[in-house]
Amino acid sequence: MSGIKKTGITARVIRIDPVRPEEDKIREAARVIKEGGLCAFPTETVYGLGVNAYNSNVVDRLYRIKKRPTSDPIIVHISDKTMLEAVVKTIPDIALKLAEKFWPGPLTLIMERSDNVPENVSAGLPTVAVRMPSHKIALALIREAGVPVAAPSANIFSRPSSTQAQHIVHDFSGEVDIVIDGGDSTIGIESTVIDLTVEPAVLLRPGGTPMEPLQKVMPYLKLGPKYIQLNQGASSSPGMLTKHYSPRAELILYQGESEKVREEIREHVNRLQSQGRKVGLLLPTEDMEVLSDFEVEKADLGAEDDLESIGRNLFACMRELDRKDLDVIIGRSFKSEGLGLAIVDRMIRASEGKVIRV
Ligand code: TXA
Ligand code: MG
Repeated sequence: MSGIKKTGITARVIRIDPVRPEEDKIREAARVIKEGGLCAFPTETVYGLGVNAYNSNVVDRLYRIKKRPTSDPIIVHISDKTMLEAVVKTIPDIALKLAEKFWPGPLTLIMERSDNVPENVSAGLPTVAVRMPSHKIALALIREAGVPVAAPSANIFSRPSSTQAQHIVHDFSGEVDIVIDGGDSTIGIESTVIDLTVEPAVLLRPGGTPMEPLQKVMPYLKLGPKYIQLNQGASSSPGMLTKHYSPRAELILYQGESEKVREEIREHVNRLQSQGRKVGLLLPTEDMEVLSDFEVEKADLGAEDDLESIGRNLFACMRELDRKDLDVIIGRSFKSEGLGLAIVDRMIRASEGKVIRV
């Protein structure tokens, strides 16, 4: 059950140097955006599927090929302050403060939408989400296109995000006009989203900019209601979580003290295998070492304490396991500090709340 329509046409992929983006290649990709096409491009968080944010027709096409509900708004990417002024009605003081400290970077701010931005970009909402990415290719592309770039993560809706160009080729084949291959995304987890249109401002999605430095600027910042529900009731009410970031195989997460978790995973895998089910492990290096005698597919997330590498590897590991046609993937959750908050959020959503606490 792939749900992906293959056109038989392969996407046009151009390789661009992420450190010194070649000007001629940036021009070629920017032309696609200017002419109303779709361009997949790398950002420091995940790859985006970019279009001219002022062109509502191509925005419609974007929702369609991503199979994204039209009720789910899209982030507008900018390269400078003039573009910010063009896409929002007013810039609150706190936005300027946050931009000063965290832009360019993995932070998205929701403000009042200006009339320049078509309604469908924001799914009809009077607001708009804005982000200035720090990736050199992304910045150069937006600057060269000369327009703000509306871009959701470059994956089929509800599936793991793309952190490499090949992920986009896999998901969309020839439906994207051009794919920029700029290597692996360095953060690997989407941007943090803060809604500045409510009082007090609220964090809607934990992401690449951790909560702690944000709270230094906004001591009143709290996680939004959706997240609190996720955090408190995840295992007791899995049905309440909509499928997101998910691999095709069922994902089950363990949470608890390492020794105990490993023991339980061992038993669980044995049980599943004796039922003839194909199992994969999505775990940090330390757990993999202990479970090395196991005959199962494994995707190593990196050292347990190195949240940066876990973030960077998470979606690629999920996709790698998915290629093995598994029935079940067993993973574990991490500490909810720093980048860990966003990592745990993605893992819990990917598992649709199937968390076993030991
Ligand atoms: O790191 C990222 O943010 C990546 C890269 C490509 O920039 N983009 C990304 O886009 O993750 P997407 O579409 O996968 O997620 C955007 C999130 C969604 O949860 C959406 O509901 C929320 O931002 N969002 C966008 N506009 C909004 C608005 N006006 N009000 C509330 N939420 C909004
Ligand atoms: Mg997404």
